[in-house]
Order: sequence, then C-alpha cells, then structure tokens
Amino acid sequence: MRIDVLTLFPGIFTGFLAESTLRLAREKGIVEIHLWDIRDRTDDKHRKVDDRPYGGGPGMVMMPGPVFAAVEAADAAASPPARKLLLTPQGRTFCQPLARELAGEPRLMLVCGRYEGFDERIHQGLGAEEVSIGDYILAGGEAAAMVIVEAVVRLLPGALGDPESAVLESFEAGALDYPQYTRPPVFRDMAVPEVLLSGDHERVRQWRAERARERTLQRRPDLAAPVGPREAKPFKNSG
Ligand code: 6GU
Repeated sequence: MRIDVLTLFPGIFTGFLAESTLRLAREKGIVEIHLWDIRDRTDDKHRKVDDRPYGGGPGMVMMPGPVFAAVEAADAAASPPARKLLLTPQGRTFCQPLARELAGEPRLMLVCGRYEGFDERIHQGLGAEEVSIGDYILAGGEAAAMVIVEAVVRLLPGALGDPESAVLESFEAGALDYPQYTRPPVFRDMAVPEVLLSGDHERVRQWRAERARERTLQRRPDLAAPVGPREAKPFKNSG
C-alpha cells in the first residue's frame, strides 16, 4: 500500500514513522509513506497557506490553492489515484470497519488541516471523504492522520508478528478484550486467576469469553450484541 500524507507540519510524523510497527512495516515494504508539505505548493513569496474568513470571525482558514496543488502533485506521483480522506471534526467518525475497508485499498491520501478549517471549496472540489476520529477538537488533523495510519497499517498482511493479534482483539471480535496476565503468578498480593494456569484450554476459552462479555456489557453496552429473549423476538411476516 502507498499512503500520501499532506500537512503543513511534516515534522510531526518523523518519530511516529521511525519507530515500532510503522518502521517495521515500511522496512518490510508492506507500506510506503510519503509526506508532502502543503506550504511547498504555494506560489507567493510569503508561502501563504491561510487567510481570514470572508464574513469575519475568529481564526484563519486554509486557502484552496495550495491544498489542491498538493493533492494533485501527490496523486500524479503514482498510480492508481488515491482514495482521499480529508481530516476534519465534521467528518464521519473513524472506526474499525472503516480501517478494515481502507486496508484493502492500494493507495490512500490523508489531507490534514490546521487553523479554523478548510475553505469550503476544498470540501466541494477535492472528491475526498471527510473523516473525524471522535467528538473532541484537535488543533489539526495530524494526530488524526497518525491514528488512521496506525489502525490501517497494522491490518496489512505481514505487519504484525502474529497475524491472529489483528483478529482476536477488541472490536474485531465485536467486544472488548478479556483480561490478560503474564508472569509473575502473584504480584503485590494480586494473583493470576487459577483457570489461566490450569492448562485446560476449553476452560480458558470459556473464562475469557465470559470476562469479555461482562466487560463489554459493563463498559460499552452499545457494543454488546443482544442475546437471549431479544433474539427470540417473533419475526412478523408481511406477506
Ligand atoms: Cl480529523 N481534526 C481535528 N482538528 N479535530 C478532530 C479530528 C480531526 N477528529 C477529531 N477531532
């Protein structure tokens, strides 16, 4: 996969791309990530990328010219054309199913905004999907782009040491994770549950399923699939 990230602050990404999962995936050739500085696409001597909003109001708005020029330059740098995401708090909320969908694309382009937002012509004319990472406001799209890059890249075949880690955990399994333990067996009077030391794989599997269900119901009832009587709700046939 190829990912192009367009930003006014490419330096924000350098540590992120140079460590851990992202570094390994890039070294293995699983993903190629290119950073584009939107400011390099200006044509005036002040390298101006933002201006005051028409109609007044606080803050600065990103001008369309440099953003369009950067998107067009990045798109032309490889083929096929990229699936384009515009990072804005007004977008569709990012989630695991969208990460899985994006992981199937040959090319992605992430466009990060700063300031009060993008000139509306950027939303209109770019053919990009607007994506947010949650209901809070960041100073810019860069942290959101990192979230999306990490969630997508770890799903690419070969990016994780153990491919099962990508399917067994929270959200992929439709529930929160069960509790995990490692050595030592007792730490500050807190013992590892006996069942996990038993070697009885069937009991372990059942215990984990119960704990995952319990946690999901308690912490994230919105994620818990209904069971029991609600499943037995009679089906009303209209014919
Ligand atoms: Cl994509 N951008 C900004 N500025 N704030 C956000 C966001 C994006 N997602 C959540 N908050």
